[in-house]
Amino acid sequence: MVKLLLISGSELEELLKPEVLIPEIENAFIKFSQGATVTPPRTVMWVEGNWWGIMQSYVPGYGVGVKVVSLIPQNPSRGLPTIQAIVTLFDGVTGTPLAVMEGGVLTALRTGAASAVSAKYLAPKEVKPIAIVGTGYQARYQLKFVSHVYPSDTVKIYDIKPEAMAKFKEWASSQGFKVVETSSVKELVKDSGVIIEATTTKEPIILGEWLSVNQHVISIGAHARDYRAFDDVAITKFNKIVVDSRKAVLEETGDIRIPLEKGLIKAEDLAELGEVASHVRKGRESNELTLFKSVGLAIQDACAAALAYKLAVEKGLGKEVTL
Ligand SMILES: NC(=O)c1ccc[n+]([C@@H]2O[C@H](COP(=O)([O-])OP(=O)(O)OC[C@H]3O[C@@H](n4cnc5c(N)ncnc54)[C@H](O)[C@@H]3O)[C@@H](O)[C@H]2O)c1
Repeated sequence: MVKLLLISGSELEELLKPEVLIPEIENAFIKFSQGATVTPPRTVMWVEGNWWGIMQSYVPGYGVGVKVVSLIPQNPSRGLPTIQAIVTLFDGVTGTPLAVMEGGVLTALRTGAASAVSAKYLAPKEVKPIAIVGTGYQARYQLKFVSHVYPSDTVKIYDIKPEAMAKFKEWASSQGFKVVETSSVKELVKDSGVIIEATTTKEPIILGEWLSVNQHVISIGAHARDYRAFDDVAITKFNKIVVDSRKAVLEETGDIRIPLEKGLIKAEDLAELGEVASHVRKGRESNELTLFKSVGLAIQDACAAALAYKLAVEKGLGKEVTL
C-alpha cells in the first residue's frame, strides 16, 4: 500500500512563502551547477501545436520530482490557465512515492524564487520601479518574489491585452503596490531598475536600444528553440548573461541559441545562476546591464515539492490517500 499526500495549490501558496522558498531554490541551483543533482534533459513533446514537458530530477537532500506540464497559450480565452501541471515526489533513497501536488502554482512559485535569486546577485543597488511585460499568471508570482529581495513599491506594467493589465493592476494594488500602466515596452523599460519579461511572445519585444546600465532584466518567456524576446542588439549589450542551465538554454530558447549560432555571444560567456550564487562567477559589479534568462529546470520542481511535502507534514496540511 502506498500512502500519498495530496497538496493543493492554495496549500502550496501558504507553505512556500518567499522567505522560505528562495534560499532553498538558491541551494538547489548551487547543487545543480556543482553537478550534484541528477537532471536528464526534459522530454519536450508538441501536442496539437502546443508545448508539453516531462521533467524529472533528483536533488540530494530533497528527493526525486517528476512533473508533467502543458503550456497552452490559448487557454486564458477558455477560462483555463496557460500552464497546467502535476508534480509527483518520491523519496530519493527508498523510491517510495510520497506526494502528488498541483503543479501550476508550484511552477509559478519556484520560477518566482529563481528570478528572486537572480535579483539578489544582479539587481542594481538603487531601488527603482520593477517593470513587467506580460501581466498574466506568472507575473504576480514574479512580482511577489522579486520584490522580496528588490524592495520596490512601484510596478510598471505592459501587456498586449488590456484586460490582463487591468486584472493585474487590481491585484497588485490590493497588495500595496503603486501601479503604473504604460502603453509600450519602450515606455515600460525607461527608468526601471528590474525588468521582468513574462510573456508568451515568439518574436523580440525588448530592443537593446531601450536598455541602459544599472538595469537587471529577468526573462522567463521565449521557451522554444525559435522563440525570442530580445533582439540581437539587446543580447550583445548585456554585460553579463546569467542562465539557469547553460545546456538547457542552448537547446531550448532562441534568445540564446540564435545569437550563439550567429557568433554574437559565446557559450563560455554565459554564467549559471548556481555559479553566481556560489561565487564561482561574479554577480553585479558597478554599472552593468545584466540578464537572467531561464527556461525552467526540474531541480526547481523537485526542491520546491520536497520542501512543500516536509512543511505540509509538519503543519498537518494536505490530504492523505492510500493507493
Ligand atoms: N522560465 C521558467 O521557468 C518559466 C516557468 C513558467 C512559465 N514560463 C513562461 O512564462 C511565460 C508566461 O507564462 P504565463 O503562465 O504567465 O502565461 P499567461 O498566458 O498567463 O500570460 C502571458 C501574458 O503575456 C502577454 N503577452 C503575450 N505576448 C505579448 C507581447 N508581445 N507583449 C506584451 N504582452 C504579451 C499575454 O497577453 C498574457 O497576458 C510563458 O512563456 C511561459 O513559458 C517560464
